[in-house]
Amino acid sequence: MVVFSDRPVTKLENLFGRGHRKAVERLRAAVEEGYFAAVLGARRVGKTSVVKTLLNHYRYRFLYFDLSPFMGLRAVSLRSLVPAEIGFNESSLSSEAQLSLAVVSFRLKRMRITSEVFQSNLVTLLQELSRKFRRFVLVFDEAQVLPFIKGINYRGLLQLIHNNYHNISVILTGSMPGLLEKIISPANASMPGFARYIEEIKVPKWGREEAVEFLRQGMREKGIAHTEEELEAAYEELSGVPGFITYYGLLRTRGLNHEKALSKASEYAISQWERDLKAFTQVYSSHLYIHVLATLADTITGATWSEIMKELEKRIGRDVSKSTLHRIINNLLRAGMIQKKDHNYLITDRPLKRAVKKLAKTI
Ligand SMILES: Nc1ncnc2c1ncn2[C@@H]1O[C@H](COP(=O)(O)OP(=O)(O)O)[C@@H](O)[C@H]1O
Ligand SMILES: [Mg+2]
Repeated sequence: MVVFSDRPVTKLENLFGRGHRKAVERLRAAVEEGYFAAVLGARRVGKTSVVKTLLNHYRYRFLYFDLSPFMGLRAVSLRSLVPAEIGFNESSLSSEAQLSLAVVSFRLKRMRITSEVFQSNLVTLLQELSRKFRRFVLVFDEAQVLPFIKGINYRGLLQLIHNNYHNISVILTGSMPGLLEKIISPANASMPGFARYIEEIKVPKWGREEAVEFLRQGMREKGIAHTEEELEAAYEELSGVPGFITYYGLLRTRGLNHEKALSKASEYAISQWERDLKAFTQVYSSHLYIHVLATLADTITGATWSEIMKELEKRIGRDVSKSTLHRIINNLLRAGMIQKKDHNYLITDRPLKRAVKKLAKTI
């Protein structure tokens, strides 16, 4: 069934697209093996939907931390780690573990919870969850926020789970892979052990046929008159990003005509990208990302590595090391913000291109 909603999908029958369903299956396999998994992809592509569908469809017991509201902040309070969802029966726990859950949920009003208190209670809780359940899933949605939470030794925590609690599988999602890499990069020899077994699962955008089919089905179900050209135009303009395509569909069902719905969805997409780009530059503390993107936004067919280098140095008026540009391009590729075609790098996402141009004027 096609649902036009602005909330994450939680049911498999509502999760549209081959790539998304495959991602659920791969995630399922990783969880069953007890691997840690990283679900990667651009914002609004459907990472949260994939994870929630997995948890719901296979009825896993889980604890869900939603860090997405804190993206782009460089200092995040401990309270951001309040579980957004508790996916198991609390009363089945021992009274000690119930107390620990109350502590990590900040329910004990009169208790001052320091990061030490929080961590030790979380560990007590996880210990019991791992003992009690054959498979338990711990989710950190938009996990690149973890390193910015004051007082939390997230690496130690993940390492502890990896070493001791074999029934607990950890799912990290992330749309800022450069940052997530700090947590999961297997290439870095100094990485803690858990990072060596992380299964990376990429959530793709919808292809043209999928996006058009999704809109066609949804509009038919709701009896909304439309033409194929309109649906194709929506795909083109919103570049196949499920979150924006869905929003267009939602607006059509609310009575907006094609032009109005598309321009509103497109504005929404641009503003969301602007917000993400700002968050990106804040946490990476570098405008170089915007400069590289701006270089590409000004082209139609993209630019080669050396063209980007030349243009970048011209823009900022100083030399840039090869390794710096390499890192930036790599992160942008993995964030799904740019693609590589033959020897050229380019931005294929139209709303992103517009957002970059707007933002580039301000830096
Ligand atoms: N496979 C899908 N099928 C149907 N709708 C989807 C799908 N993926 C994403 N969506 C829609 O797009 C929106 C954004 O998805 P979400 O899972 O929140 O993305 P992300 O976590 O990557 O930012 C959701 O509210 C949902 O309505
Ligand atoms: Mg999400």
